[in-house]
Amino acid sequence: MSKIHVFDHPLILHKLGIIRSKDTGVKEFREIISEIAMLMCYEATRDLPVEEVEIETPVAKAKAYRLAGKKLAVVPILRAGLGMVDGMLALIPSAKVGHIGLYRDPDTLEPVEYYCKLPQDIAGRDVIVVDPMLATGGSASAAVSFLKKRGCRSIRLMSIIGAPDGVRRMQADHPDVDIYVAAVDDRLNEHGYIVPGLGDAGDRIFGTK
Ligand code: PRP
Ligand code: URA
Repeated sequence: MSKIHVFDHPLILHKLGIIRSKDTGVKEFREIISEIAMLMCYEATRDLPVEEVEIETPVAKAKAYRLAGKKLAVVPILRAGLGMVDGMLALIPSAKVGHIGLYRDPDTLEPVEYYCKLPQDIAGRDVIVVDPMLATGGSASAAVSFLKKRGCRSIRLMSIIGAPDGVRRMQADHPDVDIYVAAVDDRLNEHGYIVPGLGDAGDRIFGTK
């Protein structure tokens, strides 16, 4: 069974409160999504392996560390996942970025694929899938399935808000994929929106409504 990590860092909680508010405008919403992604990236990467190296400071030889193990890739689920990419790359600037385009059919709530472009060497990388909202879990589960078909074996999912249904769906479909969120909310409403949530993340990031 995959693990669910719920981050309760005070800065994340504070910023989450701001983006939940309906009075927060596009500019601030977009900036804070990116900041939360950066803070979550810091927390979610604390288990990355490091190796010891010898370096020379201006004063003396010293033991230092550098990241070891597989290289990273960040894969946003379009559109809303794009809002998290800059924050992730601020901390892991050499990560490659793949894109998976999915939208949720408003009637069936099933994900519909419209774009997929991944780095050629994706199978050999540790992949972090990013999407602010994990609602029914259909989009995240489909994105992870694409990645597995492309040979990826090390995948984690980072969302800002999850719903219990989405967490259950991911754990059932992909028990090998750990999930990182800043909150798990109460439920989904009849339109598949997370309650209380923050509304439509894509529309709020891009100002489309
Ligand atoms: C939103 C969100 C997720 C999906 C979550 O995208 O960004 O991708 O819904 O819902 P699910 O867990 O029930 O699949 P949406 O389909 O609204 O597309 P958009 O990002 O292009 O607005
Ligand atoms: N997608 C969103 O953007 N928000 C939700 O609450 C659910 C799915």
